[in-house]
Amino acid sequence: MIELQGLTKRYGDKLAVDGLTCTVRPGIVTGFLGPNGAGKSTTMRMMLDLDNPTAGTVLIDGKHYRQLRDPLRAVGALLDAKAMHGGRSAYNHLLCLAQSNGIPGSRVREVLDTVGLTSVAKKRSKGFSLGMGQRLGIAGALLGDPRILMFDEPVNGLDPEGIHWIRNLMKNLAAQGRTVFVSSHLMSEMALTADHLVVIGQGRLLADTSMAEFIAQNSRSYVRLRSPDHERLLDALAAAGVAPVTTADGTLEVDGTDAARLGELAARHGIVLHELSPQQASLEEAFMGLTAESVEYHAHSSPGEAPAAGQGGPGDPPPGAGWGAGRREKGS
Ligand SMILES: Nc1ncnc2c1ncn2[C@@H]1O[C@H](COP(=O)(O)OP(=O)(O)OP(=O)(O)O)[C@@H](O)[C@H]1O
Ligand SMILES: [Mg+2]
Repeated sequence: MIELQGLTKRYGDKLAVDGLTCTVRPGIVTGFLGPNGAGKSTTMRMMLDLDNPTAGTVLIDGKHYRQLRDPLRAVGALLDAKAMHGGRSAYNHLLCLAQSNGIPGSRVREVLDTVGLTSVAKKRSKGFSLGMGQRLGIAGALLGDPRILMFDEPVNGLDPEGIHWIRNLMKNLAAQGRTVFVSSHLMSEMALTADHLVVIGQGRLLADTSMAEFIAQNSRSYVRLRSPDHERLLDALAAAGVAPVTTADGTLEVDGTDAARLGELAARHGIVLHELSPQQASLEEAFMGLTAESVEYHAHSSPGEAPAAGQGGPGDPPPGAGWGAGRREKGS
């Protein structure tokens, strides 16, 4: 497992990581989420001893990274897929890593095969596409057959088949009892992959919880009801002490009563329902609700676009600014 204790990193005036304490456990995929600039990559660099903490510690299976004898056999990581010698072939890049970490050379062919790069093994990596580079980085992480794996935005640049592949790869690695720690901005993908979430904003821990709890705690869930007998349904609900909200299109939204009870209530009164659906917010909505205050790099709505909503409940449209398709790069 990976244990962070009061982990802090300051760059000049900027507190990039602020007293982060959490444990990343084996056997599950832990998603690491936070808005741009929240400190995810900085945290991962400190975990791998690529950056010195200003304060606090990281322990990998009880040891500091620098105490590990063959680090690649303990921790495999993909932080920056471009961090390799472009003039080297994929095969030679991995062979260098293997030889310097006491890993048998035969492992190189195995991992190239796992990531689907066997046919380009002899090609120089500088000619690789974004997705091919990402796959080579993942091959490097897997090379030492480590118990702990860390990926910083691994699906970046991967095609749909590649995204599907890495999702299954991460789940399989976790099912083998390994520790898998992965950051991503693709919320729908995270929702399918991660069991547990660590969420940070402006360097601080905002949540350390299971996926299901995170969504339940950070968003509203309700039941949507629609009936051609709208008025009778309203009366029946009122008689049962249920107070629904009527939306502009005549749908009813009920908080705090489960769908089964509402269905039975309607049946008892012989009321036809055209819709009876429990609504659960998506991870994206829950994430935006929690991190709205800590988003540093906001885009501005283009003319005619709706202004950003505040808290993204399931009934709200997703905020138009700061996190959508039109978000701007940091500092721009
Ligand atoms: N080497 C550095 N020197 C100075 N500031 C840095 C350095 N590395 C990171 N920072 C700052 O630390 C903060 C956290 O950056 P970091 O890259 O860890 O964020 P992130 O959560 O990975 O963001 P993103 O989602 O955009 O990848 C940012 O404000 C960044 O500008
Ligand atoms: Mg980053």
